Amino acid sequence: MSLTPAGISQVVAAAVGAIKNCTSLEELKKIKIEHVGDKSPISKASQSLGSVAADQKAEVGKLVGAAKAEIQKAFDEKFSLLELERDARVLVEERVDVTLPSPRIPIGGLHPLTILTNEISDLFLGLGYKVAEGPELESEWLNFDALNIPADHPARTMQDTFFIEPLESKLVLRTHTSPVQIRTMLENEPPIYVICPGRTYRADELDATHTPVFSQVEGLVVDRGITMADLKGTLDYFARAMFGPDVKTRLRPSFFPFTEPSAEVDFYFNGRWIEWGGCGMVNPKVLEVCGIDTTEFSGFAFGMGLERTLMVRHGITDMHDIVEGDIRFTRSFGSGGR
Ligand code: DAH
Repeated sequence: MSLTPAGISQVVAAAVGAIKNCTSLEELKKIKIEHVGDKSPISKASQSLGSVAADQKAEVGKLVGAAKAEIQKAFDEKFSLLELERDARVLVEERVDVTLPSPRIPIGGLHPLTILTNEISDLFLGLGYKVAEGPELESEWLNFDALNIPADHPARTMQDTFFIEPLESKLVLRTHTSPVQIRTMLENEPPIYVICPGRTYRADELDATHTPVFSQVEGLVVDRGITMADLKGTLDYFARAMFGPDVKTRLRPSFFPFTEPSAEVDFYFNGRWIEWGGCGMVNPKVLEVCGIDTTEFSGFAFGMGLERTLMVRHGITDMHDIVEGDIRFTRSFGSGGR
């Protein structure tokens, strides 16, 4: 370009014209490179001021400076205008209605039986017990024989067992959590302090008070000098934690092949005695099967149903509520979504 007034105003006209017609920030970016940036005609004009004859330098310099300022001003004005427009558009296009109802995703929750199991585990962990587990598909030997329930013993038919085919496999769905006692004693040396919560199975119809799949918690202690008084004290502590500080327990003579003597444990709640579970001193025959020296060690054991515990504690009258998984029931225990 020529550094004449006409040449300069041509550059200004081209730049200001382009800026004026520009309608978007993207386009303005290109215009900036072309008409405002270091390589634009007006910048080049200022860079070439050095070659202007000395007597014209002041005048031409002034012209170029004014031209540059005019282009910059046009650019700045357009820039802020386009920015304002964009902000206004974004406000409308990206509007979020914070008053719209949102889809609620229920948070998962624990089943009341699981909550109870955790509570009992915590209680006994606090007494120094360990939590032991065993499989639900159990060998007949551990479920019956090792617990002093031989094949021809009437006690074998006291529990309606699910046998697994082929029958030669000698597997059953465990009818109680007591086989975990045997597993624990076979794997550990006394002193033993464990509870074994878990699922158990019996061929019962589902009705208001029975379910073929139910849960028990087993307790087992084997140590030196363990007596029935330790059993009673432990059951009292357990019952108070479950049903409140004023609950009373009583032991009623009973029979289980794996305990001698055996008892039923009842508790007094809301004006009546309620059967809770079985207990007793571990039968020395059972200790011997597990290789425990009965001249040195003795033990107690207990086992109760968790559904029964839950039903009494929370006034649940129908077993269906516990097994059917209706979320409205679970929710009333403060878990399982909103
Ligand atoms: N296993 C027994 C049942 O399911 C309950 C039981 C009774 C467990 C006495 C024990 C016990 O540990 O000592 O009927």
